[in-house]
Amino acid sequence: MSRFFNATIQENVPVHANHNLLTLSIPEGAPAPLPGQFFMLQVSRGSDPLLKRAFSIFRTTQQGVQLLYRIRGRGTEILRTMKEGAVLEMLGPLGNCYPNPPRDKMPLILAGGIGIASVFPLIEKFAGRSIVFYGARTKDDLLMKDKAEKLSKKLFISTDDGSAGSRGTIAAVLSSFLADPHSPIPDCHIYACGPHPLLRAVSEIAERHGVTAYVSMEEHMACGIGACLGCVVKTRSGYSSVCKEGPVFKSTEIVW
Ligand SMILES: Cc1cc2nc3c(=O)[nH]c(=O)nc-3n(C[C@H](O)[C@H](O)[C@H](O)COP(=O)(O)OP(=O)(O)OC[C@H]3O[C@@H](n4cnc5c(N)ncnc54)[C@H](O)[C@@H]3O)c2cc1C
Ligand code: FES
Repeated sequence: MSRFFNATIQENVPVHANHNLLTLSIPEGAPAPLPGQFFMLQVSRGSDPLLKRAFSIFRTTQQGVQLLYRIRGRGTEILRTMKEGAVLEMLGPLGNCYPNPPRDKMPLILAGGIGIASVFPLIEKFAGRSIVFYGARTKDDLLMKDKAEKLSKKLFISTDDGSAGSRGTIAAVLSSFLADPHSPIPDCHIYACGPHPLLRAVSEIAERHGVTAYVSMEEHMACGIGACLGCVVKTRSGYSSVCKEGPVFKSTEIVW
């Protein structure tokens, strides 16, 4: 089946200030999305905005595929106003997925801000097994915190303003965790999604401790299929398009 299809909005509800949860029913036979993959959504029938917008697969439920999104600019503002029954053109699922950790490795899952949308399927997949690190600007920007807490073995929280968890970045929390002599190094693998500087910090911390880390890069995208080169990043092997060869990369592959 083609990866281009029409999806119908089942629900588009606010979950927090400036964040919505969108549920879309997708046609039967559409490929099942894997943790880490994403969809491109055409939020307008006209040319404003012209380009599709990328959204990670947050969950797959009986009602359909769920996307968790932050209202950021023109495209997501239009998306926020869309009601049940509206039809959207979609492309996907696209990109690669988070690799499974070997059975003896504990998953350490890290999210910064809306990066939680990308890693949430992993938190569900490794229910009761993973340690989750989740950072946001303020406590109001922590989405799905209670669900993440229930599903994880342990949840560490940080906020920039100290309104929940420790004050500062979640990378600093990860760093302290790995520096603790009781940490399960080298028996863990890190999976992270968030802003570029956070992923760079995670990569440095992982390298310092000799831990394997995978990062999901959320570069600006235009085509989503490797045709426009709008999302390329420098890698050890040259340049890679995040939409086709990513969005998940081994952290040591990226030239930060
Ligand atoms: C693979 C991938 C998965 C993503 N998953 C999600 C998700 O699950 N939920 C979610 O809310 N967002 C996600 N994003 C980001 C999302 O695509 C952008 O927020 C969205 O395109 C913004 O569209 P807009 O028209 O509202 O904003 P625009 O008007 O296009 O931009 C508004 C502001 O946001 C900035 N911006 C736009 N896109 C990005 C980006 N990719 N990274 C950093 N800054 C950006 C712009 O520079 C500008 O300052 C993902 C991006 C990628 C590439
Ligand atoms: S968005 Fe066009 S190559 Fe990736």
